[in-house]
Amino acid sequence: MEVNEVDPVSGRKTTGHIWNGIKELDTPIPRGVLLFLIVTHLFAVLWWVLLPTWPIGRTYTKGVLGIDQKTTVEASVKESAIARAPWVSRIESLSYDEIRADEQLMASVRTTGHQLFGDNCAACHGREGKGRENYPDLSDDDWIWGGGPEAIAQTLAVGINTRHPETRVGQMPAFGRDEMLDRQQVIDVATYVSSLSDPSASTAENIDQIDKGREVFRTTCIACHGEDAKGNPELGAPNLTDRRWIYGGSLQRIIASIHGGRQGHMPTWDERLTPTEIKVLALYVNDIGQGKP
Ligand code: HEC
Ligand code: HEC
Repeated sequence: MEVNEVDPVSGRKTTGHIWNGIKELDTPIPRGVLLFLIVTHLFAVLWWVLLPTWPIGRTYTKGVLGIDQKTTVEASVKESAIARAPWVSRIESLSYDEIRADEQLMASVRTTGHQLFGDNCAACHGREGKGRENYPDLSDDDWIWGGGPEAIAQTLAVGINTRHPETRVGQMPAFGRDEMLDRQQVIDVATYVSSLSDPSASTAENIDQIDKGREVFRTTCIACHGEDAKGNPELGAPNLTDRRWIYGGSLQRIIASIHGGRQGHMPTWDERLTPTEIKVLALYVNDIGQGKP
């Protein structure tokens, strides 16, 4: 319906609608707003044509400019790999000793190694490699399987007690449970072992017990742990004369180790990490173990 009524105050036409006694003016959208709407719509249509926009099934409209976040990211990953290449290729080509002598390379090893360690090893060995019960401390210079980056790299590649054909095999028999020793013998030898690293464990009262324990040790344990009880890296038998325990050094824990045996499991890494990453990690772990062999 055409309304020809004119508002006397503004001089504009009204729409004819009346709300609570107020007549509505027939005011068109301001030109500026209209222009803005037209421009933004045109902009959108132009962008749809130029850039990847609409999903269509498994793919999407690629846009005539061919710009793609995925290819941009891939390119920048490639670029950073190339930026790293100079030191990576040096790590690959130099020997462990040569790398250790090169402070600049070792600085890269420390940062990259720390990162790799955090991603792959910290869950068991702790962020700083200090270990916890059942998981050895890697930040000391005491090695079950031998120190030095070559031995460590081998431990990483094949793992410990794994299915790998060359796995390191470390089996501490269950002397108590499998009845190779009776209960008293287990306690005697545990007391003797405990006295090796803790002089206060040896008292006037238990001197006989420790003697008996020493005898059990001589006949049963030296094959793996050695006559001096300092261990054997070939068999993964740890040194029992220091205070660094994998499974705890209280008399109770030592009895538990001897009674039930121990077979620590460490995964293999040769399929999960590249040879270069294993080399960097071996250097890093050796380095946090104060680099002492
Ligand atoms: C699932 C737990 C676990 C993870 C993950 C793990 N380890 Fe281990 N690691 C162990 C255990 C358990 C042992 C001790 C095995 C034994 O009793 O001999 C061990 C032993 C080692 C040893 C031998 C220590 C010695 O004194 O000779 C090295 C070196 C080592 N780990 C390094 C690493 C590095 C580097 C990583 C990461 C790439 C890693 N581990 C990840 C559980 C783990
Ligand atoms: C067949 C070799 C073998 C014999 C024999 C053996 N051990 Fe072990 N022992 C090991 C190995 C290997 C480990 C480390 C197991 C692991 O890391 O999971 C070990 C670990 C231990 C531990 C735990 C050390 C720690 O750091 O927590 C104690 C304690 C121990 N042995 C005591 C003895 C005593 C005592 C005897 C003799 C009654 C004995 N072992 C005989 C191989 C042996």
